[in-house]
Amino acid sequence: GDAGAGASVFSGNCAACHAGGQNVIMPEKTLQQDALEEYLDGGFNEAAVIKQVTNGKNAMPAFGGRLSDDDIANVATYVISTAKSGWD
Ligand code: HEM
Repeated sequence: GDAGAGASVFSGNCAACHAGGQNVIMPEKTLQQDALEEYLDGGFNEAAVIKQVTNGKNAMPAFGGRLSDDDIANVATYVISTAKSGWD
């Protein structure tokens, strides 16, 4: 995916709960690499982010049908690449 396009998907659809890679609803379930390795179903990889964004999980809404497959792939690339750089 295209991380640059994913950044704008993130700011429009994810940052309300995940600004700066944090999580305002479940504070331990951040988008930092260590938390994704521990909590994200399927591990620290783009396919696992795509799955959770498409289907949602608990209090996180599903974006399948609201975002295009391309938008979801791009935001997954953005999340994984930004986590690798520590959200700085
Ligand atoms: C968890 C991505 C939108 C609430 C997560 C996780 C990822 C993620 C990768 C796993 C974090 C972990 O397990 O450490 C995204 C993306 C979004 C988005 C890319 C936009 C497309 C939102 C929004 C909300 C939200 C808008 C709040 C309304 C949550 C919650 C969890 C979570 C509550 C924890 C779910 C659980 O394990 O029970 N998100 N998120 N997310 N997200 Fe989002």
